[in-house]
Amino acid sequence: MRITIVGTGYVGLVAGTCFAETGNDVLCLDIDAAKVKRLAAGEIPIYEPGLSDLFKRNAREGRLRFSTSYDEAVAHASVFFLCLPTPPSEDGSADVKYVLAAVTELAASLQAGKATAKPIFVLKSTVPVGTNARVRDAIAKTLKKPFAVASNPEFLKEGAAVEDFSKPDRVVIGVNDEEAFEALKTLYEPYCRTGAPILRMDPASAELTKYAANGFLATKISFMNEVARVCEAYGADVEQVRKGISLDPRIGKAFLFPGLGYGGSCFPKDTRALVASAKAKGLNVAIVDAAEAVNVEQKTVLVPKILKFLSGGEAKPSGQTVALWGLAFKPKTDDIREAPALAIVEKLLAAGVKVRAFDPEAMNNVRKLLGEKIAFAENPYAALEGARALVLVTEWNEFRTPDWARVKQLLGADRPGVFDGRNIYDPQKLRDLGFEYYGIGRP
Ligand SMILES: NC(=O)c1ccc[n+]([C@@H]2O[C@H](COP(=O)([O-])OP(=O)(O)OC[C@H]3O[C@@H](n4cnc5c(N)ncnc54)[C@H](O)[C@@H]3O)[C@@H](O)[C@H]2O)c1
Repeated sequence: MRITIVGTGYVGLVAGTCFAETGNDVLCLDIDAAKVKRLAAGEIPIYEPGLSDLFKRNAREGRLRFSTSYDEAVAHASVFFLCLPTPPSEDGSADVKYVLAAVTELAASLQAGKATAKPIFVLKSTVPVGTNARVRDAIAKTLKKPFAVASNPEFLKEGAAVEDFSKPDRVVIGVNDEEAFEALKTLYEPYCRTGAPILRMDPASAELTKYAANGFLATKISFMNEVARVCEAYGADVEQVRKGISLDPRIGKAFLFPGLGYGGSCFPKDTRALVASAKAKGLNVAIVDAAEAVNVEQKTVLVPKILKFLSGGEAKPSGQTVALWGLAFKPKTDDIREAPALAIVEKLLAAGVKVRAFDPEAMNNVRKLLGEKIAFAENPYAALEGARALVLVTEWNEFRTPDWARVKQLLGADRPGVFDGRNIYDPQKLRDLGFEYYGIGRP
């Protein structure tokens, strides 16, 4: 099938590449001319495991091409996957202006062009309930021919996006139009051969399914982080509690790891948007609202402990250095949107603490944002030299079993601090090795 992807970010580029992989002829459209130039030259602007090989093969075989031209996009295909940003507005609601701008341009090109096939607009962006109808109205103002609008929310996770797209748990298609449903079903069937269902529903339910999924997952994380706070107050170990509850199949093991909270482009924005959507109807969704509030506090829960550690006797935090391992909002991505590391850095810098950081993939993005406000190290060990403490923020695999003797030697201080923001280290082992260990909700 010939398809056009509109917006080549984390979702669009992965979707386009994976659709090309099953033999579709894919054109990716983006208004960012510099990005399109890089993509056309074979350069991938994001880090996503497994994407590079698929991207290169499909580009080489001519099934994956890039453009900035809306006319070219509508001449290429009649199925348009809208993978556009939906950032939060002032009031927390998701701003759909990029989606509306793109469909209006597509509609104008379609109206002016000669294409005869009925166009299908597929909303892959995460959008508030009712957006499908708004998009239909926006298109109908310009396009005076039959068309369909489907809501097909994307559930991929950054860091495992190719795997998730290629082997989804389920595909949700919210559409009232038969032809559009059949076309999308045909497109997705190759990814569902192991039995993942393609769920057809009405557009509003499809839109809400995405928010409900992210609201629930965010709530699980914040719930466990709240339990961690109670554990800490009573000297209990949240890791024992986590194991104790997660063996109950009604609760399950996933998303119960205490830590520095969630970040990224989805959970924070989608929880706020769900709250805003409910408010717009006079409803108060207290649980999801609280999950987000807990998360905002959780990101910097280690900072007072770090400042206390750096103080003592004559010593003040100001002017001392801490090493930070991990800047991305989670491992296996270079995405730093709403990353806990940024909230921690902001508070440490405000207290006059110097930060030297290392991240395998996200340093360029942080450098663009913070410039020289923090120092960047070439490898994890180089970040430690002369620092008083190590703060583990993002649990990249390469941070899991460091050479602790080398860490201690580089940190140099008598009892250097290890602040384990993801509870990946053994507290007793580190204390025996001569570190002061601080985790999340564990003694
Ligand atoms: N990132 C994720 O993990 C993820 C997962 C599921 C759903 N989503 C949702 O998918 C949507 C896209 O997210 P993303 O992370 O890929 O965003 P992104 O910011 O990485 O990419 C969006 C792209 O759209 C382009 N764009 C903006 N306006 C355009 C226009 N008028 N025409 C063509 N291109 C345009 C931008 O230049 C950019 O390249 C959002 O609604 C997000 O909530 C994201």
